[in-house]
Amino acid sequence: MPAPNAVKEALAEIHQAIEKCQLCPLAQGRKKAVPGEGPINAAVMFIGEGPGEQEDRQGKPFVGNAGKFLNELLAIAGLERQEVFITNVVKCRPPDNRSPTAEEVAACRGYLEAQIALIQPRMICLLGSVALKAVLPEVKGSVSQVHGQVFHKNGIVFIPLFHPAAALHQARWKDVLRQDMLKVKSVLSQLEEASLTSRA
Ligand code: URA
Repeated sequence: MPAPNAVKEALAEIHQAIEKCQLCPLAQGRKKAVPGEGPINAAVMFIGEGPGEQEDRQGKPFVGNAGKFLNELLAIAGLERQEVFITNVVKCRPPDNRSPTAEEVAACRGYLEAQIALIQPRMICLLGSVALKAVLPEVKGSVSQVHGQVFHKNGIVFIPLFHPAAALHQARWKDVLRQDMLKVKSVLSQLEEASLTSRA
């Protein structure tokens, strides 16, 4: 495992590259790129779709209405916002908050892969269909079919969830999302148990 300082420097370099990135046309419309934020050793990562208006202004992920709801959801899972790493599939805001195109996702993929490889989270929560398709393309169902289920890949536990912004528009998905966060909580405590046992 690389030393924490090496990880910190490598992540900072990636974030600087994202801030200057010109790999796709989204660069032209952005105020600020949004690399993501959180501790370098976060056990849990949340991946959304792409920055919205507030995120584009502030350069930080999930700071608008969807972010407020995400904070509530994190609390349900017993997580503090400062202890998780939060990022998006694309790091620049798509115009009018449309979904990113396949080309934009492909152009940004290397940044997300590098973040996952450096942070090595034990669990990744995929917020919405863009994150699900980008990270687990082999999963055939839609988010409404597979939300709250547990998938394993490359030693990481993945849980697809409804996107908080989508749930803000669909009252019944809000409660589904709250229920799924209890699942996140229980899977996290199982992971914690397992690591305590394997170290014992
Ligand atoms: N929606 C997202 O997918 N990401 C954000 O950062 C904000 C809203």
